[in-house]
Amino acid sequence: MKKNKIIIAVDGHSSCGKSTLAKAIADYFSYTYIDTGAMYRAVTLYAFNEGFISDNKIVDEEKLQLAIKNGDVNIDFRLNEDLNKAETFLNNINVEGDIRGLEISSLVSQVAVLGFVRENLVFQQRKMGEKGGIVMDGRDIGTVVFPTADLKIFLTARVDVRAERRYKQLIEKGKKADFESIKKNLEERDFIDSNREIAPLKQAEDAVLVDNSDITRKEQTELVVGMVNKVINK
Ligand code: DC
Repeated sequence: MKKNKIIIAVDGHSSCGKSTLAKAIADYFSYTYIDTGAMYRAVTLYAFNEGFISDNKIVDEEKLQLAIKNGDVNIDFRLNEDLNKAETFLNNINVEGDIRGLEISSLVSQVAVLGFVRENLVFQQRKMGEKGGIVMDGRDIGTVVFPTADLKIFLTARVDVRAERRYKQLIEKGKKADFESIKKNLEERDFIDSNREIAPLKQAEDAVLVDNSDITRKEQTELVVGMVNKVINK
């Protein structure tokens, strides 16, 4: 029987191209792509802007929790038709640029460890995806958000390859970049993400491991399109 509108979970290490893959698959099947990392980044930006994160990266949990409870942190995605890309909005302001810089990247893991943040975002993610027809990328999609997802991909690449790609991306955008700091940030985030108590980054037992260090984007997309077709046509 042909299944339609399945749920596809893409988890994996930082900067290994999860969003590129997830977006390509969503475009191919006309599914919705949901970038859950952007949601953690937006909460981090909120906390940073409000002064809830100290210079030594300690988060004022009480204030952040209250803000979330009061409905002061509203995140949504809106399509930029010119770029054919969903952009992240925080309290009705486009924060797509602000959430991607090294500053927020270096703080986001500290916010993503917090149970009340995860609980709130996981609830929203389940609502966004419950009808299927989605490709959702993150760290805990196949393990926590959608443990019964129809297809789970665990994506990775060697850390040097990932740092090099990120470095090139920033340079191409005309931003300042330092290879060693990028690599250090990736290693730190991988460590914190994989070792946190709640919803650590790990490969779900039924996830397919894809290492894209030595394959092109096109090859990667073709590989996963094949996997999706197999699930849909099963
Ligand atoms: O995918 P990304 O690099 O934009 O994610 C930013 C951070 O958010 C990452 O360091 C870990 C965290 N994250 C998470 O804990 N769970 C998710 N589902 C997605 C991201």
